Amino acid sequence: MPEPLQHGLKIDHARDSVARQDFVIGLRRYVLNDLAEAMRRRYDDQVAPAFARRQGRPFESQDEIHREMLGNTTFQFYSAARYNAQEMSWRSVIPEVASHIDEIAQKAAAITGTAQGSLTLDPSLELPRNVTELDVHLMPGGYESRGDYLAGAVYDNGLTVFSAGLLGPHIDDIGQSFAHYVAERFPEFSPRRIVDCGCTVGHNSVPWAQTFPGAQVHAIDVASAPLRYGHARAESMGVPIHFHQMDATSMAFEDESMDLVVSAQFLHEVSLKDIRRYFAECYRVLKPGGMLITMELAPARYMQPYDCFYLDWDAYYNREPYYRAFRNADALELARPAGFAAENFFEFTVPQYTKTEPAEFARQARLDLSFDNYCGQLRDDMRYYGFGLRK
Ligand SMILES: C[S@@+](CC[C@H](N)C(=O)[O-])C[C@H]1O[C@@H](n2cnc3c(N)ncnc32)[C@H](O)[C@@H]1O
Repeated sequence: MPEPLQHGLKIDHARDSVARQDFVIGLRRYVLNDLAEAMRRRYDDQVAPAFARRQGRPFESQDEIHREMLGNTTFQFYSAARYNAQEMSWRSVIPEVASHIDEIAQKAAAITGTAQGSLTLDPSLELPRNVTELDVHLMPGGYESRGDYLAGAVYDNGLTVFSAGLLGPHIDDIGQSFAHYVAERFPEFSPRRIVDCGCTVGHNSVPWAQTFPGAQVHAIDVASAPLRYGHARAESMGVPIHFHQMDATSMAFEDESMDLVVSAQFLHEVSLKDIRRYFAECYRVLKPGGMLITMELAPARYMQPYDCFYLDWDAYYNREPYYRAFRNADALELARPAGFAAENFFEFTVPQYTKTEPAEFARQARLDLSFDNYCGQLRDDMRYYGFGLRK
């Protein structure tokens, strides 16, 4: 059973709904762990040797592997099962969320009546096509549902099922891990103003405010429904965050007004052109000495072609059209035209904060870059990849 959400907008899921969610979690574990391992064995034992015999050389790229695997029944079965499990993650929560949406709105209104943080919406903001034209990761309707809480509630509850408990009860393990990484690795750095870009429901924004209680934390997204939901969510946890409907590629913040700009799983959902514009904005809003911290998919250059092929699945079949281009790109090269210097670029991996003893987390946060061999799997011992830039 997924660990129920622990905040003021949580809804009580009926037993048949919980059973459906349990099934989806089991199916995703089976697909992403067992079937993925079986597919890897099939690749090592049959597909790669057959290709090498035929071509007189091994596979050279992820695309070659993908083309070959398209005709392989194990891949076809894996792919069909994974696509269905993805759709089922959302479907396992949508009816319940939809039937509780008025209750969520009432709770949100009561919670935000005495808000310490704020919500600033901009109905005139033109939403980018990557949000309006895509049901990203097969999420019905995408991120926006103007005028209500639906998209935020679906995302929050759906991610809880999708992540199968790996992200902790507040699905905030990524934010916790990166905020504590910064606190451990840069003890002299004490940010006063932080902004989280592409925050969705702010689940990973909250840990920055908890870890740096003296800081004013802002969280921005182009979609209004997740922000409206996220504002009430954060307030219900007693964490003041300032949510803004704002485009990260054209921020309304003053020049040199931020100490720290962060994002999690944001860049791989926008085009390379918009990533360049985002870095330019980060450079503009950061104070001298300020820091940019990004949690993202690990770059293709650190992986074998098979692992790249494996991760490319999302780009081909999960409505993540920018995923592949982002992983194949060099973040530093995208950031340099903005003004960031190569010597101020650093990469790191962090363990999961909510699954690791604090002393062990602190030790590992100081280790040099290292990658695990379990990319794309649902495991308790995974590490996140990140990169940073100092201005
Ligand atoms: C994968 S979600 C990020 C999830 C979240 N940060 C996390 O930690 O799990 C990507 C978010 O970026 C938002 N987004 C897309 N383009 C944007 C842009 N140009 N400016 C701000 N937000 C954007 C989407 O609306 C969506 O909420």
